[in-house]
This record gives sequence, C-alpha cells and structure tokens, in this order.
Amino acid sequence: MGLLAARLACLTDTVAILLEWVMARMVLHPGIQSKTQAELDAVVACGCAISDADVARLPYLQRVVKETFRVHQPGPLLSWARLVVHDAVVGGHLVPAGTTAMVNMWAITHDPAVWADPSAFRPERFEEENVSVLGGELRLAPFGAGRRVCPGKTLALATIHLWLAQLLHRFQWAPADGGVDLAERLRMSLEMEKPLVCKPTPRW
Ligand code: HEM
Repeated sequence: MGLLAARLACLTDTVAILLEWVMARMVLHPGIQSKTQAELDAVVACGCAISDADVARLPYLQRVVKETFRVHQPGPLLSWARLVVHDAVVGGHLVPAGTTAMVNMWAITHDPAVWADPSAFRPERFEEENVSVLGGELRLAPFGAGRRVCPGKTLALATIHLWLAQLLHRFQWAPADGGVDLAERLRMSLEMEKPLVCKPTPRW
C-alpha cells in the first residue's frame, strides 16, 4: 500500500513541488530571474505564446531547472522500496537479507566532494559541465536510474520547462511580505515546510 501511495504521489505531486521550489529560487535570486527572462524575451516576443518547441532554445532556463533538481529534488530517497533478498557485503559492510535499501540522493547532491560549493544555487555550473538529470549520471539522478527509473521523466521535464517559461515570460515575481523560507519537510516528497507566497506583476 505504501509503495502504491508513493507511485501515485510521483504522478501527482512531484511536478508541482519542483515548480514551487524553482519559483522560490526565482524570487530569492532576482538576478537569475532577470537572466532567464532576458533569454525568454530574445526567443519569444512579448505578447506571444510559448510552445514546447521554444524550450529547446532556452538553455539557461533548462539549467535553472537542473540546478533546482540538484538542490531540491522532490524524491530525495530513491529506490526506497528495494528489498535485499540475499545477504550481501558492500564496502566491507554486511547488508542482511530483508533489509530495505535506499539511495540518499540528497546527500550526494549536497556533498562537497561531489559538487563544488553544493549549497550555492548556481545554474551556471552546468555551463561548465553538462550533467544529465535523466539517470545517466548517479551524482544527479532525481528520477532514479536503471530498470526502475521514473517512466514519467520526459513528461515531467517538458511540463516543468514549459510552465516555468510561461510564468517567467508573463510575470515578474517578488517575495510576499513574509519572505521566502527554504526549510524542507520530508513527507511523501521533499516539500517546502512553509508554502511559497509571492507577488506577480505583469511584464507587459
Ligand atoms: C519532477 C517530477 C518527478 C520526479 C522527481 C520523479 C521521480 C521519481 C523517482 C525518484 C522514482 C523512483 C525511481 C526508483 O525507484 O529508482 C519514480 C518512479 C516512478 N515515477 Fe516518477 N517522478 C516525477 C514525475 C513523474 C510523472 C509525471 C509520472 C507519470 C506521468 C511519473 C511516474 C512514475 C512511476 C509510474 C514510477 C514507478 C516506476 C517503477 O517502479 O518501475 N513520475 N519517479
């Protein structure tokens, strides 16, 4: 039952949660928001609708999403339902049969031995090295990897890119009076403890 609930949460919550995190970052980093909007304005004229086809010409926006996946992945404990069926020794440690094994992706993406200055939100790091989020590189695998990798990953990415592009193209986003609190809470997904409240102003 828990496994089914987790799969349903994946279908319904994760895209919305990632979008909330990315908008929190846009509000907290107005310079990054402006840079993303400048890229959008160069690709899509003001007043015109953005389509999926435009996203391919928005590399900076894609890096913003990638950096959000690195810092705030909605499913930080990958593979939490894997059951060890035989006793195994991993790195000198005995993992007995019956153990539920998890991959702590959050720990990997916040480890200074894996990522330089891991707590900094810096989409430009992906100009310096192009790391995929689709499961080819285990230091950034928000959708898991291997046989049980998320089958919705391409749909999720397409949805997030398009919605973020539309939100940033049409509106300027600023914090509401209470500011932005990046505290995390691990429920079925890793959510913002205090839901984001922000003020949009039409850009045109
Ligand atoms: C930001 C969005 C999403 C994230 C971060 C995400 C992440 C994940 C992760 C980490 C897993 C577990 C992989 C593993 O066990 O190794 C998973 C599994 C799964 N996801 Fe997603 N997911 C997202 C969106 C979606 C969407 C949009 C769908 C469907 C339309 C979907 C359907 C599924 C299903 C059915 C599984 C179970 C696959 C299996 O057990 O074989 N996910 N997802």
